[in-house]
Amino acid sequence: PDESVVDLLNRLCATVEDYPRPGITFKDLTPVFADGKGLRVMVDELTAPFAGKFDLVAGVEARGFLLAAAAAYATGTGVITVRKKGKLPRPTLSEDYALEYGHATIEVHEDDVPPEARILLLDDVLATGGTLSAATRLMERSGAHVVGIGVVLELAGLGGRDALEGHGVHSLQRIE
Ligand code: PRP
Repeated sequence: PDESVVDLLNRLCATVEDYPRPGITFKDLTPVFADGKGLRVMVDELTAPFAGKFDLVAGVEARGFLLAAAAAYATGTGVITVRKKGKLPRPTLSEDYALEYGHATIEVHEDDVPPEARILLLDDVLATGGTLSAATRLMERSGAHVVGIGVVLELAGLGGRDALEGHGVHSLQRIE
């Protein structure tokens, strides 16, 4: 029988103990991106629930770009790049979000997101939800609608799904 998406992720995703700090177990998706079937399954599974409901895909720097570009190409839509502060050359909207220590800022060009656009927002991992909440605010301030949020891995227990309440989060695998 066909391998399930969870079995595929378990087979290909690398687990790194004590990274980036002692006591933290890091899930590294780069081997999944590097596998032809892995990339295709991630993209197909992230877009399928939202088929026909979005006009654009937004990806969050950096790994979200890989998913968003592939998803947009596969669905004949375009990509919005949500970038770390200071990377975009023209006027931007900015949103701050909390990190474990300190804060970070993400930005989007003011005029890259058409008003009323229906956005599928993608990233690799949902942890606290700070990043995707900030990205959602950027889309909404642009006048667009976030019709779905897709992530490959959801680190359950960090509150990410609650932080994105009301926004239809679709994760391919939950990790306790
Ligand atoms: C990681 C990940 C998500 C975010 C999730 O990105 O790719 O974007 O953290 O965490 P959160 O739900 O608690 O906000 P990171 O900030 O490490 O940036 P990178 O992709 O550029 O490495």
